[in-house]
Amino acid sequence: MEQEPKIANAYKEYYEIYDQVVLKMLPFYSEMHADMTEQIAKEKTENLKILELGFGTGTLTYRIMNEYPNAEVLGVDNHEENIAKATEKLKDFLHFKSLKADFKSFETDELFDAVVSALSIHHLSDQEKQDYFKFIFEKLKAGGRFIIGDLVKSSDEEEWHKYLVDTMGEEGEHRWQVHKGNREDKPSTLEDQLLWLKQAGFDKIEVVNKWFNFYVFYGEKSSKN
Ligand SMILES: C[S@@+](CC[C@H](N)C(=O)[O-])C[C@H]1O[C@@H](n2cnc3c(N)ncnc32)[C@H](O)[C@@H]1O
Repeated sequence: MEQEPKIANAYKEYYEIYDQVVLKMLPFYSEMHADMTEQIAKEKTENLKILELGFGTGTLTYRIMNEYPNAEVLGVDNHEENIAKATEKLKDFLHFKSLKADFKSFETDELFDAVVSALSIHHLSDQEKQDYFKFIFEKLKAGGRFIIGDLVKSSDEEEWHKYLVDTMGEEGEHRWQVHKGNREDKPSTLEDQLLWLKQAGFDKIEVVNKWFNFYVFYGEKSSKN
């Protein structure tokens, strides 16, 4: 079934003005990125290799590259316009490389110290997430972390809906309807995702922070692997 054109157009427009809209819709957006960045490593000057999945317009990437000045970051995304915006935002960082590809199946021989993904995993179905967590486990070095910041399936989403309407009125309701009508959004529960991380082989799993139905959590690959 085709998506209702009004909703499809609204979603296209959402990406055109993403950087402005996301700050209104997610008042915790910067804090979420900060919490994710903090979990990458204790030593900020290490020569880390970091993989970012669904780097979008590059806002989290920018923060990571500032806070870990010696890190090399490979960003994977399949959205041409977002990649162009990120490339412009990150043009002064020589250690950033981008790859236009589907992040479920891209190829790289490299192993990474950390894998991060903000607001992207919810585009995968339950089964795709389970396969994906196994795929990412194999891409991490021993001791590495897979750090996720994303929306999950939860009744708390009503609080977020209320926040949107209280702060943005009609526009908030419109943004909510666009979100609910988007067939590309497939959030899973937090409990399922923590279980799937365990099943993929991660042995330390932590929930770091939460706002409405949005969470930062990670799985760490044992240093004995
Ligand atoms: C909502 S944006 C999040 C962008 C950014 N991480 C942030 O924190 O603002 C989701 C991004 O994931 C990308 N994406 C979704 N599914 C993808 C896939 N299967 N392969 C590659 N990129 C994907 C989209 O193109 C988009 O740029």
